[in-house]
Amino acid sequence: MTPEEFRQRGHEIIDWLADYHAKISNYPVQPGTRPGDVKAMLPAVPPAEAEGFDQIIADLDKVVLPNISHWQHPRFFGYFPSNSLGSGILGDLVSSGLGVLGLSWQSSPAVTEIEEITVDWFRQMVGLSSAWFGVINDTASTSTLVALLCARERTTRFSLARRGLQAEHWPLTIYTSASAHSSVEKAALLAGFGRENVRMVDTDPNFAMHPSALEHAIAADIRSGSTPCAIVAAVGGTATVSIDPLSSVADIARRHGLWFHVDAAMAGNAMILPELRWMWDGIEDADSVVINAHKWLGVPFDCSLYFVRDEPHLLRVMSADPSFLQSSADEKVRNLRNTGIPLGRRFRALKLWFAIREQGVSGLQARLRRDISLAQDLRSKVEATPDWEIIAPVVLQTVCIVYRPKSVASDRLDDFTRAWAHAVNTSGQAYITPATAAGHWMVRVSIGTITTAASDIEMVWQAIQEAAAALVPEFS
Ligand SMILES: Cc1ncc(COP(=O)(O)O)c(C=O)c1O
Repeated sequence: MTPEEFRQRGHEIIDWLADYHAKISNYPVQPGTRPGDVKAMLPAVPPAEAEGFDQIIADLDKVVLPNISHWQHPRFFGYFPSNSLGSGILGDLVSSGLGVLGLSWQSSPAVTEIEEITVDWFRQMVGLSSAWFGVINDTASTSTLVALLCARERTTRFSLARRGLQAEHWPLTIYTSASAHSSVEKAALLAGFGRENVRMVDTDPNFAMHPSALEHAIAADIRSGSTPCAIVAAVGGTATVSIDPLSSVADIARRHGLWFHVDAAMAGNAMILPELRWMWDGIEDADSVVINAHKWLGVPFDCSLYFVRDEPHLLRVMSADPSFLQSSADEKVRNLRNTGIPLGRRFRALKLWFAIREQGVSGLQARLRRDISLAQDLRSKVEATPDWEIIAPVVLQTVCIVYRPKSVASDRLDDFTRAWAHAVNTSGQAYITPATAAGHWMVRVSIGTITTAASDIEMVWQAIQEAAAALVPEFS
């Protein structure tokens, strides 16, 4: 492709994307795709000769669009908001277009320095003190893995420089809660702790970690000869957006000398709102925290910010300095490869930089406040309707709902709940996520797409009530 062809095709693709966003609400939120449908449309072998680009673009309409879930649809209420602001999309495009890699500061100085500055802006935006140092990773799963590797190495006084975790005399234990995201357990397993050494601490009626249960779990492990290593608390637990009591947990971590990691992957974005910083109370006593700007904030996936208080420790655990990457600038600069797992670094900071500048902090704050207010509207509607219940505090933008009509027996409620959620999703009108909390199914309505308006909340609430009402006879 010559630069001129690239210009022409680039314009076409941007036009195509702009049209997509303009008409997105006309699509069913969830496609009716069956397993294998997409593969059946594609040749099993690569094209031997070059295809025309017209054909490639045509397949976007034919193969791709009919078979994706529309995460940017105003009635996408599934999982968590993962918004793509236009400015962020363009930043990502520039990153690919420049095609630079941050192997070291010298390999492309702006990659490092724009990341340093942008991440520090973000730190200030979410109210973290200047004691924190942050970098951009791909995902929260990676950030939490890095946190647990750092925890392991602090507790074992750098076992990696000797015979590793395998030579430790006592098992190291990790503490999190049933409300934690599955990435926490996965990180613990990948970091070598072993499933038997991961404790799921009991939660309170609001699904938050119980400090006294945590204390008991740690004491029991010490009595049995284990070595407690790290606690992972959630600001915004996955199912219900539960908020663990950071300051009590921090106090326990400090007393026992444990690493304290905070998973604020989605909810951490809300800390740009000073009125919500009560959720952050105790954060300054944590060792590490992850916030995904690629969730609610609006930076296109992937952009996970990982902050630590002890930068030298992070560097000591994660550094690799082969001779071909050393340069005379090394004394004066940061080489961000030494903060994480991959060597090569994408220019992810560009999309964060673009989005923050284009929106301004106040623009980002206004949208998050809008979503919080929409969630409160939905909560009021649900609470005002007989037999409908909110099962967890609505502290941010997620509303967790159950419907218990008297004619549906309690042992059929779980199936009934899943059935009406499925009916809403297959209708294409909206997308919602069923999930379990305290062992029972409920439905999460997770608000936060950039274009979601009050009318969309009204529509999803209507769709939910109609779908559920239609299924009552079948489950009575
Ligand atoms: C609380 C929480 N932690 C971690 C994750 C995992 O995020 P990622 O996909 O960036 O690894 C999620 C995302 O679903 C989440 O909600």
